[in-house]
Amino acid sequence: MTSPAISIRNLTKRYDLIPALSDISFEVPAGQIMGFLGPNGAGKTTTLRILTGIIAPSSGSVWIDGLDVTEHSLEVRRRIGYLPEHVALYSEMRVVEYLTYRARIKGIPRAEQSSRLKSSLEQCALTDVSRQLIGRLSKGFRQRVALADCLLAKPKILILDEPTIGLDPHQIRQTRELITTLGRTTTILLSTHILPEVEITCQRVTIIDKGTIVAVDTPEGLRQRRSGLQLVRTQWRGAPPSVIESALKQLPNVMRVTFQGQSDGICSFDIESQSGQDIRESIFHMAVKNQWTLRELSQQQASLEDIFVQLTTHE
Ligand SMILES: Nc1ncnc2c1ncn2[C@@H]1O[C@H](COP(=O)(O)OP(=O)(O)O)[C@@H](O)[C@H]1O
Ligand SMILES: [Mg+2]
Repeated sequence: MTSPAISIRNLTKRYDLIPALSDISFEVPAGQIMGFLGPNGAGKTTTLRILTGIIAPSSGSVWIDGLDVTEHSLEVRRRIGYLPEHVALYSEMRVVEYLTYRARIKGIPRAEQSSRLKSSLEQCALTDVSRQLIGRLSKGFRQRVALADCLLAKPKILILDEPTIGLDPHQIRQTRELITTLGRTTTILLSTHILPEVEITCQRVTIIDKGTIVAVDTPEGLRQRRSGLQLVRTQWRGAPPSVIESALKQLPNVMRVTFQGQSDGICSFDIESQSGQDIRESIFHMAVKNQWTLRELSQQQASLEDIFVQLTTHE
């Protein structure tokens, strides 16, 4: 049996006694693109920096390609390409000069350097700008230079920390396409706080929040959770919003009531209920009993965003 490309077991990290990661475990099978999804401050970057050997865990262990990262940090670094959250490039160098310099640092044999350089430039669609100064390039191009750097040594595993942050929509689409292509030959752990990103690019998704894993699922599985979540949109007249809100919250199977606004004496609420429970009839009976006017009662399709919020919201 082949070992998973990435394996994290009971990993805990504290910064000055404050836990950033609390006993997290998950695996990335070889050949997969795994999304690592979580809101800002969830602990994504901390996890990736431990995986790449930049910082040490407080406890627990991480393996890359079957090797313990703390024991075999050099071999591990040879197997991974790491795109950090904030990339520092030499802006006064030309793309090709920079990548040549990086190839040397990475100890790529001289005879292979030019072919590795050429193929990294091609993979990242940088061939046309290879003679330009890095400082003159747009953010999207600079991001691709950093990615080309990651690819130079032909890593088996790519670890990408929010690779589309700060890019415009066109550049985001190009980067996602590039990641999808790279994923055909490489294992990828892709951190992001953007839900559609994992939906588009990843085979599996690990969701992290406040330093703990809240779900591991496929994008399809997340969609099924969505179909189990009922969301009803309502509009009311006849009582102050706070009165209607507290009445709604007392209905059976109601999980969450969200005030959507008020104008001309009409107020709106979105109501979420547990899976398989249709709450529309009890909302209707509540309106009749109180003699409130119910202007709208419609079932909405919950979005993947709703599931994400549901998974990462703490009561
Ligand atoms: N070097 C550090 N020193 C102290 N606290 C840190 C440090 N790095 C991150 N943290 C804290 O750890 C938590 C997780 O941060 P981070 O891993 O950067 O999350 P994410 O990448 O998901 O946004 C946050 O509360 C952050 O403030
Ligand atoms: Mg981060």
